[in-house]
Amino acid sequence: MESKVYFIGAGPGDPELITLKGHKAIGGADVIIYAGSLVNPQVLANCGKEAVIYNSAEMDLPEIIEVMKNACAQGLSVARVHTGDPSIYGSIREQIEELDKLQIGYEVIPGVSSFTAAASVLCKEFTVPEISQTVICTRFEGRTPVPELEQIELLASHKTSMAIFLSVHMMEKLVEKLTKHYSGSTPIAVVEKATWTDQRVVRGMLNDIVLKVKEAGIRKTAMILVGDFLGTEYNNSKLYDAGFTHEYRQGKTPCGE
Ligand SMILES: C[S@@+](CC[C@H](N)C(=O)[O-])C[C@H]1O[C@@H](n2cnc3c(N)ncnc32)[C@H](O)[C@@H]1O
Repeated sequence: MESKVYFIGAGPGDPELITLKGHKAIGGADVIIYAGSLVNPQVLANCGKEAVIYNSAEMDLPEIIEVMKNACAQGLSVARVHTGDPSIYGSIREQIEELDKLQIGYEVIPGVSSFTAAASVLCKEFTVPEISQTVICTRFEGRTPVPELEQIELLASHKTSMAIFLSVHMMEKLVEKLTKHYSGSTPIAVVEKATWTDQRVVRGMLNDIVLKVKEAGIRKTAMILVGDFLGTEYNNSKLYDAGFTHEYRQGKTPCGE
């Protein structure tokens, strides 16, 4: 494999949910640095016998860059394995900027994000015609600040489908802000460890979810999905509507017209 850093999305947990490309890159890497707090170690099962493995949960940024630098100086390849998709709360930008300074090459291999994985667990579609055509991926403000215009109540005012990361430990405050715009009967689901063998799902409405999550004892690694896309009302898409004509199919005119 080429001597460079491969940023790889490991997917949400199920080791079969990594891309073939990511799987091959792990298999061929000389050095692996994986985000041990979230990545399922089973995605590393095909790594080479000689591969040197680091858990980035125990490392800071300079230490991670040092490992990458030393490996590439010896002509080795590095698999940097992130959970879900690296472009979402992956902290890859700060690593890429350091690699640019050192003129070390890199490539990003995408992955299945936990927000789409959670939707798959619930068998739901975020974009239901005329219910919601927009998905907001966000987090509630905690120790990491969120820009003023992205405060959760502002985002909630659009009443779109929402996927909220990194926030399950703040359910009470989060729900208080969401209900400034969504009604208390808006459906909400919390999916803990989506696609892992021990995944758990808590379903409810905004006005009862706090207690349910508390009773379940869910404090981390959970995706919060909220919005009417989780509800029972929906409209079929035009794409498969028998009367709708588009580039690939002539719509059928209903009898009598
Ligand atoms: C640092 S972010 C990384 C997100 C990741 N890059 C992605 O695309 O899913 C970690 C947060 O993602 C969510 N998360 C990651 N894996 C998850 C899973 N398997 N099930 C539910 N939520 C998950 C949780 O909200 C967790 O706090």
